[in-house]
Amino acid sequence: MAGKLRISSTLNCDVLVIGAGGAGLRCAAEILEKKPDTKIVAVTKVPHCQKSHTSTAQGGLAAVDPKDPVDKPIYHMFDTWKGSDCMGDQNVIKKIVEAAWEQIVWLENKGMHFSRNEEGGLSKRTFGGHTVRFGEASAYRAVFEADRTGKGIMDSVWGETLRGGISFVNQTIATELLLKDNQCVGAVLFCQRKGKFVAVCAKATVFASGGNGQLFRVTTNCRQNTGDGLAIVLNAGLPVMDPEAVQFHPTGIVGPGILASETLRSVGGILRNKDLEPFMEKYAPKMKELAPRDLVARAIETEIQEGRGILNPDHNIEHVWIDLRHLPDDVHKVQIPEVTSFFKKYINIDPKLHLCPVHPSNHYQMGGIPTNEFGEVCNTDGKIIPGLYAVGECAAASFHGFNRLGTNSILELITMGQFVGERVVESLSDHLPALPGDAGEKSFALFSAYLAQTGKDNLEKIREQSRALMTEKVGVFRTQKGLNQAMEALKALKERAQNTALACSSLKMNPELILRWELDNLLSVSFLTAACALNRRESRGGHARRDFPERKDEFNYHTVAGMTEFATVELKKRAVDMSILESECEHCERFGTIERTY
Ligand code: FUM
Repeated sequence: MAGKLRISSTLNCDVLVIGAGGAGLRCAAEILEKKPDTKIVAVTKVPHCQKSHTSTAQGGLAAVDPKDPVDKPIYHMFDTWKGSDCMGDQNVIKKIVEAAWEQIVWLENKGMHFSRNEEGGLSKRTFGGHTVRFGEASAYRAVFEADRTGKGIMDSVWGETLRGGISFVNQTIATELLLKDNQCVGAVLFCQRKGKFVAVCAKATVFASGGNGQLFRVTTNCRQNTGDGLAIVLNAGLPVMDPEAVQFHPTGIVGPGILASETLRSVGGILRNKDLEPFMEKYAPKMKELAPRDLVARAIETEIQEGRGILNPDHNIEHVWIDLRHLPDDVHKVQIPEVTSFFKKYINIDPKLHLCPVHPSNHYQMGGIPTNEFGEVCNTDGKIIPGLYAVGECAAASFHGFNRLGTNSILELITMGQFVGERVVESLSDHLPALPGDAGEKSFALFSAYLAQTGKDNLEKIREQSRALMTEKVGVFRTQKGLNQAMEALKALKERAQNTALACSSLKMNPELILRWELDNLLSVSFLTAACALNRRESRGGHARRDFPERKDEFNYHTVAGMTEFATVELKKRAVDMSILESECEHCERFGTIERTY
């Protein structure tokens, strides 16, 4: 069967960008600004780049305004370090925080409609874990475009890349990374509409394939986020860093899990349990609703597990409330119109009149493809793979460590997008590399096996069982027993996945074939996540072990995990960069392994 599949054509370009969301397009915009004639091909799995997950981002992006009389970059660095549970790399934290405002100005100049205050300046809001004077008070640091900031960013970067002459290839997946003599020379793509494989020969390849929220049944992530980027990298023999560091957003809308932005708490929303008690005070006496997400998500789960959740027989999911009824009309109308409309549209609740049911929902992966501060991808030994870059949620530089602060992700994708773009331009060679002789073989073997499968098991059921398992056993709280059960069950699901005959054997527009490929990616990244969570016998940031509730210094390192064969995981370590602590800068002493109370 593999013999029947072939590369239909070869495409040459300077830069191949895999994933056309905010990070990929910001990177492409930088390249086109610095080197206007660069030939960039951006591949997206979805029918249009505007359907990328970035478009759904709501709350805002953190940046210290140099004119702000109270806020300072060192406070933002400290908050990010503390929020990361002492696992963010300090060189990256410093670099991103110091570049933040410049990026706001860039976006503003490219046409983004930031919300403005009455004086005409940019409006700013608070977000969990962002403080001034090292935790003394909440910082007004997040700039935003109402509660649809991501859409504004996508419009801006899309416009810029179009103006620069980018080529988009839509509804196309990257199935194989092409490495030759330890250098990346491009990738193999599968075009869903034509049902054809295309080899792309590129001087630089940038992974910007986003997150992997679909690993979990309850998630704020778009349908397309199935961990493909990480799976391709693993298949190429490269590692993934800190996959166990998963973020659960405290307030997903019960049922669909859709994001109910932290903005709701920033503008005064109150979390209440079944007795209508505002419970956050018990868990974070100072910051309350504006504590970081890992802490708030655990507080909600604890309320529910200790019997103070609400069970609605309509959906049978336990939840708590977010109370927005007391907020003035103009806050509903101007600051949170989108989220208010989600509650109305998806669960028929008017937040002005009724309590809104919320529950933690998988939201973000802090880990990803390991890179240095320029987005250059590193192998298991920490050596750079020339020609290969990663940026955005699929990458781990690592700015967020084990817990990301709200509004730091869009900041990261915009700043790192620029840094990676700059690096690509500096490193771009004059010559196209040669493709390896076996380009496509791995993809053909996979796809022909999918098409040749027999058996009556159900693809969709296996996928849903895997996702439910992850939400149940690898969720907000984890245990050794649950993680072992998850890993065993994932192995069984992988076996069952081989027995799912596809109804249609066409290569062209065959959604079942793509589902089958995605299933392998979901299972691989799920297994790796569970295995790394099992190995980390401590609690840190988004990784909470019931059986090891404390953070432990012996785990002060990044997990570097490889898996070339399903369920055979190889673990290594990467040191956390502590360069702010080691510098002589003012306040450097605050960047040690600090206690994390809010
Ligand atoms: O809650 C939110 O609006 C999400 C923001 C973020 O993930 O940074």
